[in-house]
Amino acid sequence: ATNRTFTMLKPDAVEKGHIGAILEKISASGFRIVAMKLTQMTKADAETFYGIHNERPFFGELVEYMTRGPIVAAILEKDHAVEDFRTLIGATNPADAADGTIRKMFADSISENAVHGSDSNENAAIESAFHFSGREMF
Ligand code: CMP
Repeated sequence: ATNRTFTMLKPDAVEKGHIGAILEKISASGFRIVAMKLTQMTKADAETFYGIHNERPFFGELVEYMTRGPIVAAILEKDHAVEDFRTLIGATNPADAADGTIRKMFADSISENAVHGSDSNENAAIESAFHFSGREMF
């Protein structure tokens, strides 16, 4: 069934000038962009967005990384969007990511891994609502 997923092109991908190449790959893979903006998360934003990870040893590093510069936030629509987008981005650690995946092509490390993809339909809806109002979704 057609559904939606939420993505962020993270600060490292934006810094390195990869916005265009990553969006091209997303579009070529059949995803329709239904919302998109350049934005920067505050520390409070990142602490809330990644709240599930707040006990992890890398939490502080994750918040620093995700707030250090602008990101591209977007909502993508496709059949099986959540599952297919996670396949397209590849494993969390780019060293483990399959050839041709976005993380294999554009990420340098497990912490700075270029792109986010929601892990469930429920989280896709929560994450989309965190970044976008209804009138920003098409
Ligand atoms: P993501 O899976 O999209 O969401 C959680 C993020 O935490 C993950 O991407 C990485 O950016 C980061 N992360 C996950 N595991 C580690 C780790 N072991 N060390 C540092 N950062 C990590």
